[in-house]
Amino acid sequence: MKKIIITGALGQIGSELTTRLREVYGTENVVATDIRQPEHSKVVTDGIFEVLDVTDAERMRALVEDYTVDTFIHLAALLSAVAEAKPQLAWTLNMGGLMNALEVSREFDLKFFTPSSIGAFGPETPKDQTPQVTIQRPTTMYGVTKVSGELLGDYYFQKFGVDTRSVRFPGLISYDTLPGGGTTDYAVDIYYEALRNNAYTSFIDKGTYMDMMYMPDAVDLIIQLMEADSDQLTHRNAYNVSAMSIAPEDVEKAIQKHQPGFKLSYDVDPVRQGIANSWPNAIDTSAAQEEWGFSPKYDLEKMTADMLSKLKVKVV
Ligand code: SER
Repeated sequence: MKKIIITGALGQIGSELTTRLREVYGTENVVATDIRQPEHSKVVTDGIFEVLDVTDAERMRALVEDYTVDTFIHLAALLSAVAEAKPQLAWTLNMGGLMNALEVSREFDLKFFTPSSIGAFGPETPKDQTPQVTIQRPTTMYGVTKVSGELLGDYYFQKFGVDTRSVRFPGLISYDTLPGGGTTDYAVDIYYEALRNNAYTSFIDKGTYMDMMYMPDAVDLIIQLMEADSDQLTHRNAYNVSAMSIAPEDVEKAIQKHQPGFKLSYDVDPVRQGIANSWPNAIDTSAAQEEWGFSPKYDLEKMTADMLSKLKVKVV
């Protein structure tokens, strides 16, 4: 990776990844793009920024050509709960954007990354130690777009030789930018509300285990995977990755170690609970470990300590 274009740079992953890529590869070598251009975001003010609607193939192609990039990181997409509310839009945006990004990567011979998700699994998938290669019959539009994306990534690699790489991200927890409409977002909201009210009402039920990861690990692993030797990669699209499998009550206990009076209650949202129930409890990440050395640093305790100390400055 020498010169990188990112879509969805203002999103939950994009905002932190853009900052890190600018540090590692040089500000002049990162072209951040998003559909909107807020004046005060560091993504917009601290480096190259271009407005890009990912369904606009012509503009995407022009940016890639003008900036002579060699790597495409495609993050622009709707998350699971929003996609369930607007399935047609989710298909148009998630798949239309992905096809445009893959096509431009084929034409200009770019290295390519886009995230898949634990949402690519479904109710028939084994729930525990979910294997790298297993049944994938998701029942959400988000999942349908993610499985399709994995298949397209493999197709572009096999048919056209595009160097496609991807991971199935679990729920990502971060203090910088809020996620927009995901099923795993309770695990972000809970920290904000712990600091504001010392209490949180979870829309996901007690006992619902899902995989999660702290954003610094997610950003690191994208760079690690993209820098890995191509010959090492067998399961390119997409590797299972996770740092912890947790239920709301586990986060409650971790927060109580810092704030003993913290109270968790439940008001379950049937849509997001239904999505969560269709996803695995805990996925097996051995392929990512073996093929490119995936090794997350943050467990629940370490993440909770860091989240609370970072958010304290922002929230209180
Ligand atoms: N965090 C995502 C979501 O809940 C999972 O990929 O939609």
